[in-house]
Amino acid sequence: MKKYLVVLLFLMLGFQALAAGDIEKGKLTSYTCTGCHGIKYYMNVYPTYHVPRLGGQNEAYIVSALKAYRSGERSHPTMRAQAGSLSDDDIANIAAYFASLK
Ligand code: HEC
Repeated sequence: MKKYLVVLLFLMLGFQALAAGDIEKGKLTSYTCTGCHGIKYYMNVYPTYHVPRLGGQNEAYIVSALKAYRSGERSHPTMRAQAGSLSDDDIANIAAYFASLK
């Protein structure tokens, strides 16, 4: 019996890892991001500087960019602070959300 439970657990974990990002959750999690990334002309509010456009961006690209900020591979201080607190799930959800925007 115990063996079955272990197998079941692994299966469940496996499915979780494979699950695509959840757009609705990503929308909630990315609430703070849109302060900079969701604005017309892709400028943040103040002081005004350019931020990259995320809406409609490739999902895999957003995931890899966020992981690179989180690991410090990409060194932009603002984005390192933003990505530092995100889990892999958060990142997948956020990427799914931004990729779904047109
Ligand atoms: C204070 C403003 C600000 C906030 C808030 C912010 N970002 Fe950013 N973001 C930037 C800037 C500026 C850059 C460009 C950094 C660089 O040159 O590496 C950037 C870059 C990125 C990139 C890389 C885009 C590319 O084309 O390479 C991604 C992905 C990203 N941000 C996602 C997010 C997510 C997700 C959040 C919320 C968790 C977030 N950002 C919050 C300002 C912000």
